[in-house]
Formats: sequence, structure tokens, C-alpha cells
Amino acid sequence: MTQSNSNISRLSSNNSTDLDTQQVWTAVDDYIEAHLLEDNPALNQTLENTVRQGYPSHLHIAANQAQMLSMLIKMNGAKRILEFGTFAGYSTIVMAQALPADGYLLTIESRDTHYALAQENIAHAGLTDIIDARLGLANEVIHSLDATTPAFDFIFIDADKQSYPEYLELSLRHARSGTLIILDNVIRAAEIIDPNNHKPSIVGLRELFQALQNHPQIAESTAIQTVGCKGYDGFAMAVVK
Ligand code: DHB
Ligand code: MG
Repeated sequence: MTQSNSNISRLSSNNSTDLDTQQVWTAVDDYIEAHLLEDNPALNQTLENTVRQGYPSHLHIAANQAQMLSMLIKMNGAKRILEFGTFAGYSTIVMAQALPADGYLLTIESRDTHYALAQENIAHAGLTDIIDARLGLANEVIHSLDATTPAFDFIFIDADKQSYPEYLELSLRHARSGTLIILDNVIRAAEIIDPNNHKPSIVGLRELFQALQNHPQIAESTAIQTVGCKGYDGFAMAVVK
């Protein structure tokens, strides 16, 4: 192993980030949240219900990232949102809250337990009019959409990482010029650049980067590394041509 490869492996191994470093990242996220984010009772309720039912709390996006999605949705005047991977409905709820009253959000979840949890959280947030939550495989749900379904303005991909290249292609079937696509968890503590890492999720993410590179339907794309309460990860964003 070369020196740089061993450095990557060290960084991305499970207990790579020492406790002190993670505590500092979390403390800074707490600071950001305390200063810049308004209390959001629907999100608090969602987190409480999710943890109460024994589901992990690391799977949903951080509060400051949720706020970024909300701002991007408003800045783009988005009215129609598509989400891959509902899980507990945390990001679903925050994105729906950013929509106007006549907005629409279609979210797809393949696990029935997660779907049931999200249904509860969405109902509790009073967002059942805006959110259309579907249980099923993304491929089947997308293909079941009417050919006349208007394009989505904003798409958030946050599901199994192995399938991101497929979800990108499914997204592009129902996108328009200018649609913004955000993809969560594309860095995975630098695992993506470790040539010795062949996990299906990591292979899928590398294929995603290849797909974004010179894609005929993508105008431009980038990815941003992040650290915070969720550890070391990052997101990608792409604008449709
Ligand atoms: C995992 C998935 C996510 O979407 C996320 O934000 C964090 C972790 C995971 O599968 O471990
Ligand atoms: Mg995620």
C-alpha cells in the first residue's frame, strides 16, 4: 500500500475520527443550530418519534443541511419536489415546509417499516396534503408516473448509495432544464477515493461521479465535503441542462 492509500484507509476506517475531533464537529453544529436555526416543532417531533421507536438517528440529514435544502428550494421557487429515500420523513418534512401551499412532494421508500414511520411523522406535521409518500422500488414508482406528469423542480437523492447512478437516471426522466439535484452522502469519510474499498455502496458512488462527469443531460455539477454531527461525509449537486 502506498503512503497515501494507507492514509485514506486510516481516515475512512470506522473508528478513524477520534472522539475529540467528532465532539468538536458536533459542538460546532450545535453552535450553528443555536444561532441560525429556528426551532422546528415538526422536526423535533419527528426525531423524538424516530428514536422512541428504536430507529437510528444518524440516517437523516443534519439540521443545518436541512436548512440549506429549504433555502435552495425557496431560492429556486421550486413547486414540485422528488425524493428518493424517505426513511423517517425528516428531510421530507423540512422540504415540504419550504414549498408554497400548492406545492407537491413525491417521496419514495422501499422499506415498509420506514414508510410506516414516515407516514406517522408526516401526518403529525400536518403535511399530508403536500406530501405524496409511496412505498415501493424507485424504478417501479417512477415508471408508474403518468407520461404527462409535470417535471420536478428539485430532486433529493438520499437512499441506498449503491443505486445512486440508477436514481440519477430515473431523476432525469422527470427533470427540466434547471432542475437542481442534490445527492446526500457521496464522500463517506473519503472511502470513495480508497482504491481498496470495493463495498457496493462505494462502487455505486464512484459510478455516480463517473456518470456526472460529462453527462449529456447535466449542465454542471460539484460535490462538497462536510464535517459535523454526522461525521465526515458530503453531498453532490447537479443542475440539469
Ligand atoms: C447512512 C445513510 C445515509 O443516508 C446517511 O445520511 C447517513 C448514513 C448509512 O447508510 O449508513
Ligand atoms: Mg443521507
